[in-house]
Amino acid sequence: MGKVVKIALGLLGFGGMVVLGVSWYLETRDQREPSRLAFLEHCASCHSASGNGPDLLTQYHADDSADEITNRILVRHSDLVAQAQFPEPMVKALALYVMEQRQALPSITNSHAHAIPKDVVESQRHAFKVELITEVGKGPYSIAPLPDGRILLVEKVRGLSVIDTAGEQGDLVEGTPRVWSEIAQVGGSFAVLGSMLDVQLHPDYASNGWIYLAHSDRCQLDCGSPWPVTMVRVVRGRLVGNRWIDSEVIWSVDKDQYTVVPDAVASGRLAFDHQGFGYVTVGGKSTYDNLHVMDTPYGKIHRFNDNGSVPEDNPFWLGEQPGDSTSSRNTVWTYGHRTVQGLTTDPRTGEIWATEMGPRGGDEINLIRRGGNYGWPLYTEGLDYNAEYISIGKELGLDFEFSETIPPVVDFTPAPSLSNFIFHNSDQFPNWQNDLLVGSLRAQTLFRVRIEAGRVVEKERLLTRLGRIRDVEMGYDGFVYVLIEHNQTGSLIRLVPTG
Ligand code: HEC
Repeated sequence: MGKVVKIALGLLGFGGMVVLGVSWYLETRDQREPSRLAFLEHCASCHSASGNGPDLLTQYHADDSADEITNRILVRHSDLVAQAQFPEPMVKALALYVMEQRQALPSITNSHAHAIPKDVVESQRHAFKVELITEVGKGPYSIAPLPDGRILLVEKVRGLSVIDTAGEQGDLVEGTPRVWSEIAQVGGSFAVLGSMLDVQLHPDYASNGWIYLAHSDRCQLDCGSPWPVTMVRVVRGRLVGNRWIDSEVIWSVDKDQYTVVPDAVASGRLAFDHQGFGYVTVGGKSTYDNLHVMDTPYGKIHRFNDNGSVPEDNPFWLGEQPGDSTSSRNTVWTYGHRTVQGLTTDPRTGEIWATEMGPRGGDEINLIRRGGNYGWPLYTEGLDYNAEYISIGKELGLDFEFSETIPPVVDFTPAPSLSNFIFHNSDQFPNWQNDLLVGSLRAQTLFRVRIEAGRVVEKERLLTRLGRIRDVEMGYDGFVYVLIEHNQTGSLIRLVPTG
């Protein structure tokens, strides 16, 4: 056996062990979680169905915030807290544990279980039914309803296809950027390098036919890397029959910026504002130190002209291509993001809004402002998964005041893993006019959030236990379309008002 082959087999074996290790780690993480263990040891004897204290986990003030519960523990149980010698944020971690149990947040593995309600759903402002349009394939990520009633669908590991008006999914569209199948599947999440992400129509699609795709572009050897590396890239093209034509790269970065981190945190969401500028989100790709370095693309939202040129009023634009030819600073619009899995446009103003996943707690809905610093990883409402503060920002020497960051408009703690969302503005659900309809992965919940004067005034769970919601869009018929990911398949459903 040649030496190279031996090394390759060795690496494969090692890779396999890493995958097994990661999978064990993820599947048992919830069981080993320190605040769960602390609750079982110090609290459960009284605070369970059989204990003599209130059953904190199932009843009791369902809408208390993490701060309220933390304070009650500190006030009511100051002796116990002192005696147990909990490390600093453990009391907050206990509060998060209580909230997660009350909301019955499933583990990531269990969040693939799904059920579509058969009966009419009575929500606060509308009754509606849920219709299944079609089951779809593995790893659905995004949809774009077309004016003629068909729907573009992206499955991460398969690519682009079209669902016709009868609900039939067609063959994969030919000629789109290549996608690659997954390297491994751990608890239902894919480790994949080179997948398709978002699909979005140009605001003038009806007259110009442009469709924008964000995908994770992959290279190996041809970009000097011995192993595959990827990075978010935006292309546009047109659909003729079942072919992708006129394809052009609209936004990309130097191949030196590609990384070997799988696409789960790639983000790659697209939106357009009312001036016709396009925006794409790029995840941290597991780097922390680069999110505040303007020359790197990670943890940023980038802004581009619809034809791929760079808008000269971008906040970090230098007036010319920077001396460092690998720099992507010219297109940076905002920075300090963790994983922006949702991006949408306020139809009233053209403002761009984003959802962002926090760590344990601290999911956010943000209004995206030019040049804004969104704080991660120095500032977050969330804690680390080991019940400690997120210390990485300090360790890296990041140094800016909270007042220099743009705080979220909505904080979601505990974290439902927010995904994509829309402002609803159709006549089909008049009482949801301008409300946000927000998907989530782990919580499997479709939220309705009403924001007035920059504050949340209503927050409702419209549907729960749906499966992992990847995308929410409004059809040209005004109905709400929701794309759900299950383990090996997915579903496209729509909400239709009754009565
Ligand atoms: C010896 C029994 C006992 C133990 C152990 C105990 N509690 Fe309690 N706890 C109670 C009782 C009884 C109350 C209700 C007292 C009241 O109504 O003011 C309470 C109240 C609370 C409340 C306030 C409830 C509310 O929302 O008003 C919280 C929160 C709480 N406990 C959390 C904890 C946590 C966390 C632990 C473990 C670190 C813990 N408790 C351990 C008996 C216990």
